[in-house]
Amino acid sequence: MRNKIVAANWKMNLNLAEGKQLVEGILAGLPALEVHKHVVIASSFVHIAQTAAQLAGKSNIHTGAQNCSTETSGAYTGEVSAAMLKDAGVSYVIIGHSERREYFNETNAMLAKKVNQALANGLHILFCCGEALEVRDAGTQNAHVEQQIKEGIFHLSAEQMKDITIAYEPIWAIGTGRTATSAQAQEIHAHIRSVVAAQYGADVANNVPILYGGSCKPSNAAELFACPDVDGGLIGGASLKADEFLGIIEAMK
Ligand code: G3P
Repeated sequence: MRNKIVAANWKMNLNLAEGKQLVEGILAGLPALEVHKHVVIASSFVHIAQTAAQLAGKSNIHTGAQNCSTETSGAYTGEVSAAMLKDAGVSYVIIGHSERREYFNETNAMLAKKVNQALANGLHILFCCGEALEVRDAGTQNAHVEQQIKEGIFHLSAEQMKDITIAYEPIWAIGTGRTATSAQAQEIHAHIRSVVAAQYGADVANNVPILYGGSCKPSNAAELFACPDVDGGLIGGASLKADEFLGIIEAMK
């Protein structure tokens, strides 16, 4: 059975005390998770050691990061390497979030290097793709995400694809309250899976989780997650409140 994942992307939010309290609240309400269901808490770098200590020994809930360097180590002021993340207790890393593509000019070629660094250090990758509103209005969203995926992860082997989760996040739905409909989500998730199948075959494609992100809330998660090609969510705003995040976890099928 394909893994299901609900991942929190805290973005640049919460101080250490707030982060600790949020994780405590999530752990207090977290149901026992079936073996194929996973929860990821991807905080800013400053929270990672604290979160990893809180999650130590817990099953199916993992410490995540929101980025890693393209480089292995060295004179790259301000950067954090995949090796450092692994050493700090990280097991999942978000790569290619639209906010990093936009604000920090991350290209698909740069993201492919980040993917290689993460894999070389034993991290599982949440690889993001998604289109701006003008692309959706033009009806070229399928080609857009196809290019992001091909240039970002299709250099990998079939074996390496076992450590890849794809997160489709329509930019026009991120933080806007305007969620993609379940029909829209299913259509593009199915397209993404078909693109992976064309490159790697059906077995690999059927085992790659594809998450939805973009104003996913407790009120809409069940309908989204009921779609055959939606394998969970990458959650921003709603992940900052324990009860809302738990409500989305509950919706995992
Ligand atoms: O990475 C998840 C994030 O981009 C979605 O944000 O606030 O729309 O859930 P939000």
